[in-house]
Amino acid sequence: MNDGVRTSLNASSGDGSGTSPLIELARLDDGGFAEVEATIDGDAESLLLYRDGDAVRAWLNICPHAGRRLDWAPGQFLKSKDGLLVCAAHGASFELGGGECVAGPCRGEALRAVAVDVRDGAVWLA
Ligand code: FES
Repeated sequence: MNDGVRTSLNASSGDGSGTSPLIELARLDDGGFAEVEATIDGDAESLLLYRDGDAVRAWLNICPHAGRRLDWAPGQFLKSKDGLLVCAAHGASFELGGGECVAGPCRGEALRAVAVDVRDGAVWLA
């Protein structure tokens, strides 16, 4: 299990590029997760962020199995001993490089990636 972070900062100025960061990098532990909300293509979406050293990857917080959120409570994501993200609904397990499901009911499918940048000590929509 991994202590998560949740922020409700709205990242969008309406054009998708964003005028405020998704989250300060310092609030994301290395190897940790956070959940943020952002407007993407005009829709409010929950995003899962994962920090890997100086890099941060982001995906929609939607499981490809049955479309449920991956966290068991907002910002609280499960991580297995071998470093996989585990969907709280039915246990699908995702590797954290490309978000591919490697075990469970949607094996072979993948999370939907969202492009983000790290700059100025924060994470931004790319
Ligand atoms: S919705 Fe994620 S495993 Fe079923």
